[in-house]
Amino acid sequence: MDNNQKIQMLLSDNKSDYFSKIWSISEPFISKQFKREQLSKLHSKASHLSDLTDVKEIIKKWTDIYIDFVKTEYQAEYQDIKAPLVDFIENKESNIKIVWGNCLDIMKGMKSESVHLMVTSPPYYNAREYSQWKDLTAYLEDMRLIIREAYRVIDNHRVFVFNVGDIFDNDNISTKSTWGKRRIPLGAYFTKIFEEEGWTFVDDFIWDKGEVQSERHKNGNKPYPFYQYPMNCYEHILIFHKHRDDLTKYPCPVCGCLKVNGNAMSEIGLRSWECKNDECFERSKANRGKRFSLKTIMTQGSQEVENEIDKSFITKWRRDIIKINPVIKINSKGENTLGHTAPFPADIPEFAIKMFSYPDEYILDPFGGSFTSIIEAKKLGRIGIGIELNKTMFREAGLKNIQKAFNNNVFFYNTVISEFDGVEEKNE
Ligand SMILES: C[S@@+](CC[C@H](N)C(=O)[O-])C[C@H]1O[C@@H](n2cnc3c(N)ncnc32)[C@H](O)[C@@H]1O
Ligand SMILES: [Zn+2]
Repeated sequence: MDNNQKIQMLLSDNKSDYFSKIWSISEPFISKQFKREQLSKLHSKASHLSDLTDVKEIIKKWTDIYIDFVKTEYQAEYQDIKAPLVDFIENKESNIKIVWGNCLDIMKGMKSESVHLMVTSPPYYNAREYSQWKDLTAYLEDMRLIIREAYRVIDNHRVFVFNVGDIFDNDNISTKSTWGKRRIPLGAYFTKIFEEEGWTFVDDFIWDKGEVQSERHKNGNKPYPFYQYPMNCYEHILIFHKHRDDLTKYPCPVCGCLKVNGNAMSEIGLRSWECKNDECFERSKANRGKRFSLKTIMTQGSQEVENEIDKSFITKWRRDIIKINPVIKINSKGENTLGHTAPFPADIPEFAIKMFSYPDEYILDPFGGSFTSIIEAKKLGRIGIGIELNKTMFREAGLKNIQKAFNNNVFFYNTVISEFDGVEEKNE
């Protein structure tokens, strides 16, 4: 008997509706997890499912209602959201959202676990004149606070794609003179900070930039030992996962019930569950119940054709050394065509978005720059939020990039300034 037949049988056998069955089996198992008022709130949100007859539809809708309920309750624990900012982000009228301000302050005003993917390239310490720190320690401390806040804001079991280069500079810690210049392994430092702030390091793609234009790191013309250093032609594309240890029980994806027991973790910090409902439609040969986690509910529940990733794209990103030409900023007349001195190639956000998100989800780039990430997000049917500190420098270029990306066609974007005194501008 396949699952569908079992379901049909269950329905013909059963006098009560399937949602009521889920509820009666589950209630004893979630009554410890929720307060009485919460439990009745949850029940009233889902009770209309009793009118439905399609078991699969009931399980799907119940799971969505349940997960959404758990998330809303969790989000309510954080008290410092800025309502106008949240309204701005949640407003469905636009799917390109630009916020001018310091990403640390802006993220502090956002709901917990409210974005589905982050992709960015931070300022590389003092590599650019427009953002400077007194020394490397001060820079890394600033970055740590941002990484900490990003952890709160990103949804659980989601991914941060972080592009950074190991620049050649003075850390200004022991000396400010030229002999203090050295290769600074920002990729390594960031990895350590991310892990200390709760993220799991997963991968480091080496972006091979090919032949580089600059001769900056070449050390003189002396063909002798100790005089030669390689030209820098790579950057890191670091992949981090968030796995906040969440003890909440989640519904079995097969039967929808919450009669589940804790199972071994399936990844560091990722709690998984085993269905203990004897009437579940699926049991293993060894008579074990379905094993699952919040992550597998997300990933296995979204394997529809429209979410399939192109084979050629998977092949392109198959190896962890990947050649991408850097963005050429200077045209033949020596003019900076993008109005931004450190744009990253669209391949990076394209990779992040296609590999780690679904349509209609929120993609956040906290160091928006010329807004490459959020343009890519919109192109791929997601909602892009870009935060950028330097309004004077990036306003015109950023908006022009967006216009250009969509051929000046009808599109929606709006911007909000950091004081959250409302939407500054809207184009339709
Ligand atoms: C390396 S660039 C990002 C490049 C971007 N990925 C692009 O393709 O345009 C870093 C950007 O972060 C901005 N920035 C620096 N500190 C910031 C902060 N605290 N909040 C928001 N943006 C910041 C800088 O002004 C700069 O535009
Ligand atoms: Zn089950």
